[in-house]
Amino acid sequence: MKKYNNTDFNIKNVGQTVELYGWVSKKRNLGGLVFIDLRDRSGIIQLVVRPEQKDYEVASNLKSESVIRAVGIIMERESKNMKIPTGEIEVIISDLELINQANDLPFEITDNTTALEDTRLKYRYLDLRRNELKDKLITRSKITMAVRNFLASNGFIEVETPILCKSTPEGARDYLVPSRVNKGKFYALPQSPQIFKQLLMIGGVEKYFQIAKCFRDEDLRADRQPEFTQVDIEMSFVDEEDVMDTTEKLINYVFKEVKGIDISLPLMKMKYDDAIRDYGSDKPDLRFDMKIQDISSVFQNTEFSAFQNVLANQGVINCLIVKDKAEQYSRKEIDKLTDFVKTYKASGLAWLKYNNHEFTGSIRKVVSDSELASLKEILNIEENDLILIVADQYSIVKTSLGALRCKLGRDLGLIDEKDYKLLWVVDFPSFEYSEQENRYVACHHPFTAPKDSDIDKLLTDPGHCYSKAYDIVINGYEAGGGSIRIHKQEVQAKMFEALGFTKEAAKEKFGFFLEAFDYGTPPHGGLALGLDRLTMLLTNTENIRDVIAFPKTASASCLMSECPNVVEESQLKELALKIETRES
Ligand code: AMO
Repeated sequence: MKKYNNTDFNIKNVGQTVELYGWVSKKRNLGGLVFIDLRDRSGIIQLVVRPEQKDYEVASNLKSESVIRAVGIIMERESKNMKIPTGEIEVIISDLELINQANDLPFEITDNTTALEDTRLKYRYLDLRRNELKDKLITRSKITMAVRNFLASNGFIEVETPILCKSTPEGARDYLVPSRVNKGKFYALPQSPQIFKQLLMIGGVEKYFQIAKCFRDEDLRADRQPEFTQVDIEMSFVDEEDVMDTTEKLINYVFKEVKGIDISLPLMKMKYDDAIRDYGSDKPDLRFDMKIQDISSVFQNTEFSAFQNVLANQGVINCLIVKDKAEQYSRKEIDKLTDFVKTYKASGLAWLKYNNHEFTGSIRKVVSDSELASLKEILNIEENDLILIVADQYSIVKTSLGALRCKLGRDLGLIDEKDYKLLWVVDFPSFEYSEQENRYVACHHPFTAPKDSDIDKLLTDPGHCYSKAYDIVINGYEAGGGSIRIHKQEVQAKMFEALGFTKEAAKEKFGFFLEAFDYGTPPHGGLALGLDRLTMLLTNTENIRDVIAFPKTASASCLMSECPNVVEESQLKELALKIETRES
């Protein structure tokens, strides 16, 4: 077995004979000597092979990324490299063995690679050799260990739940697995262990956690993968405060262990409605200010017909103020911002600049001087401020300005990338209306308890019911979410009814679960943290693929193993399946 890591050694080890194993990161012939940068997981150490050595020939012909074994004596280096931990020493080699010769590489293994991501994904095992990815994997492992340590020492037990399941209602499409033994029937891969963790509470486990693989067939984004990992937690005899308190202590522990950062607790809490009102998002990035402002009142009696119409149709007029940047935004730049808000269904973007004590801009001529004076006063407008306005239905205004706020924050460098801003978003609505399905759907999932005061409104006024759900938001990412669950069968039945399930459909889908409620169900609640997202945040990347050893592409495939793929006709036959159309 390999006994040492390259970076175990430093100037104190001069004179020691060592046996090293690793990859040839770099090789140079200089003045008759062969210098090799030997890399292992810990880092680089310099080897030197002198011409009189028996293995000089082997060393001279080594190709990058070949695997070698090298034995030699540690010496002090003449020209030191203080940038690496072993930079004061080198190993004078007496015995060198080529264990595995590498071919010419599809791309160079280097920190600042220019290789295309598709190439790197195809040869992921090579990409993993780069420090950037290796360090992220190490951080991920540290996070997982810290999570396990914290939860185990706080009375939680780790329990595995099935991967071959009945469909769980997290809102995405299921991945299905056909059953050979029960032909025509399918398992679903879990979108999360939600039902099982609740059954574990009914089973008396009291404090559960799992580093759980979850599978969701949904459209992928920079922070979404079809298979991802949750730190899944459930606790009995708790209320919202208890779960949030435990979770933030867990997060603080992880931040401290992994990054040495101490978060000040308790975290702030923001109501869902306030988050939407001020930031246009249920995951506000609080690393910079720029709240959305409501200026509807300024235009109550406006002559400007576009604004008139919006207000007459119960719409709102809101704006963002970009402080001291008016001159930076040309008409062309603002046109780009207009196109941007249009992708969020906004009908347009009105704007005003304030320079030399005067307003100019797209609506300068159609709004009155008194309206401009009110704007200036209410918004505290100063020299060189830019006002960006959307007038539309409430949700369109909030969503588009919320997205624009984040874009401006990034574009203008208002975000300190080293900063972490955490908060809880609480008091979510129980339901959201799905235009697509023409019915109310659960904002979290159907097992989320409504606020006690709203139970009676579940069927009569679902649009105004709030739930005991909470999300933890870090730097504009939803890092986790959970809720106190319904633990009474009659409330769960009411919830299914409110969601449009008939009694029969609810029984068919969740009968086993509902039945369990009859045998002594403790009050319980929990949450799941996205382990991948947590790792993204702690390794400062915006690409979820960077923190997963073998990720999928945006089209949910693995370029390395070429999956998904066709299967043998005989396999289909065994499963009693027939493919009608096969895309090439
Ligand atoms: P939810 O669906 O909010 O809750 O998921 C919890 C957290 O998992 C992460 N996440 C994802 N990460 C990467 N790729 C995805 N496709 C993806 N989807 C979700 C997010 C999210 O906050 N069973 C409930 C939890 C509970 O109520 O206890 C659940 O799964 O960080």
